[in-house]
Amino acid sequence: MCGIVAYIGGKEAFPILIIGLKRLEYRGYDSAGVALLNGDVNLYKCKGRVVDLENHIGEKNTKGSVGIGHTRWATHGEPNDANAHPHAIDNNELSIIHNGIIENYLTLKKELEKRGHVFKSDTDTEVLIHLIQDVKDSEKVDLEEAVRIALTQVVGAYAIVILSKNDPDTLVVAKKSSPLVIGIGENEFYIASDATPIVEYTRNVVYLEDGDIAVVPRHGELKIKNFKNKEVIPYVQELEFQLEELEKGGYPHFMLKEIYEQPRSIRDSMRGRASISRGTVQLGGITDFEQKFMKAKRIIIVGCGTSWHGGLVGEYLFEELARIPVEVEYASEFRYRNPVINEDDIVIAISQSGETADTLAAIKLAKAKGATILGICNVVGSSIARETHGGSYTHAGPEIGVASTKAFTAQVTILTLMAMEIGKMRGHIPKARFNQLLTEIKGIPKKVEEVLKTNDVIEEIAEVFKDASNFLYLGRGLNFPVALEGALKLKEISYIHAEGYPAAEMKHGPIALIDAEMPVVVIATKMGNYEKTVSNIQEVKARGGKLIALVTKGDKIVSEMADYVIEIPEVDEMFIPMVSVVPLQLLSYHIALKRGCNVDQPRNLAKSVTVE
Ligand code: F6R
Repeated sequence: MCGIVAYIGGKEAFPILIIGLKRLEYRGYDSAGVALLNGDVNLYKCKGRVVDLENHIGEKNTKGSVGIGHTRWATHGEPNDANAHPHAIDNNELSIIHNGIIENYLTLKKELEKRGHVFKSDTDTEVLIHLIQDVKDSEKVDLEEAVRIALTQVVGAYAIVILSKNDPDTLVVAKKSSPLVIGIGENEFYIASDATPIVEYTRNVVYLEDGDIAVVPRHGELKIKNFKNKEVIPYVQELEFQLEELEKGGYPHFMLKEIYEQPRSIRDSMRGRASISRGTVQLGGITDFEQKFMKAKRIIIVGCGTSWHGGLVGEYLFEELARIPVEVEYASEFRYRNPVINEDDIVIAISQSGETADTLAAIKLAKAKGATILGICNVVGSSIARETHGGSYTHAGPEIGVASTKAFTAQVTILTLMAMEIGKMRGHIPKARFNQLLTEIKGIPKKVEEVLKTNDVIEEIAEVFKDASNFLYLGRGLNFPVALEGALKLKEISYIHAEGYPAAEMKHGPIALIDAEMPVVVIATKMGNYEKTVSNIQEVKARGGKLIALVTKGDKIVSEMADYVIEIPEVDEMFIPMVSVVPLQLLSYHIALKRGCNVDQPRNLAKSVTVE
């Protein structure tokens, strides 16, 4: 969603802002803008991409060593020039960029209108800068204090940066429920909504906490206070990822690069955790909570989208290997129910970005009810990682393509290791089986490498089906969440309507859709319910459906029935999703590409969904 980048120091701010905004493009946006201070404030913004903003600015004055930049993903008001950020007041005396939503903006706006304020946009952000200005004038306080007082009247989520024409040596920033990170350079500071625009300049960063207001100076020390006006000592952390991880590395798209990175990312997720020689799995998320897991009567998994699919895989694994009942919940539904949560429940929140608003809210709810909350997150230092009692990072590396790929397989890797370890702890997995699983899971990256070799076959299948209007994905058991994930990938990036179903559920409705125009992807790998899946395939064939089958290498039965076949290597049933999802990612990628879609930044989607 929206992206923030700001700079204050001794360099020209404009190139830093533009590069930073391009780094933030992956989050999804529809307009962009910058404000630069050099005596006067020059503010430029427009609907469209960052490159449109550059064209719009052309040769105009972009001088200034302090500036703010923003990519907007529309919430209040359509994507247009007026609604783009920055928003300014009083001849650009104050300008603001904002991520998040001000929920009570209408009430505040009405009050401000009564007091003579006139608005130029439909946004909640413009209301906020008017409120701050109003407080500043009426209370006769400085900007920092005006921000503090104004924010006490605000309900909602925000990360804001304010530029003041009269104070060229400071930027004022604040955050609540929307991430904001400050990079500390030499006599300069970088501010951003995530660390991607910062990493090429400095590795030292401070993640603001909810309620923090910081005065970021041109030189000298960063000063942070909380809403209660108490000083907060900045906690400086070192960024773990490298700049190269944010580049395409020779691939035409981030999505393809990330699909191909999976052997590495799955290996990294296991590194230092699964050891064949010691015969152990060691995960911070478990060892620190061993007693809780021994007593747990239930695990609740919360997440959204692909992460929710990861959770569904986890449900099968925990129930099969650890024999603990599991409920998998959409975070957005869970948070608005009155869920029954007990103190001996363990809630596992899964999130690539670690910033998803609904997942964060679900965690807070379960925490307030006394449950133990663990996170499986990819982004180190993210809000969810900080809000949970413990957990395990996935170590997949930055995921830039909007459609999640390597994050999913890394989440499933962690969930599998967790289920194995808990199963062993609770006495449900004999040592020999545990060791066998360990050996097998360590071999999964190699199996994924093999799957990637089927890319050409998949590209040919994509050519045949690129003009389809609908797709059905079917799978049973552990392949059911994979079917959901395959369908989600396809609809996200190719805009083809696709649905995933448990294969046996087809005859209860979706079978009515099947005709010669309907491609049906069936994940029919060798596993416990293989024969049952074969029967479901016969039902598809009998109705003329076009069958694309994912089968285990050497399979004869399904291969003879299918119109198109993709083979994957044989793996233990428990690990099938890590392997079977990969061809479906590639299929979506190739179909989307052949349809001329923007694979990395599909329309309407945001990488980090920080509003509910
Ligand atoms: C799908 C996708 C989304 C996310 C969802 C949750 O490709 O990317 O469905 O999985 O928005 O995001 P995280 O995992 O960041 O909480």
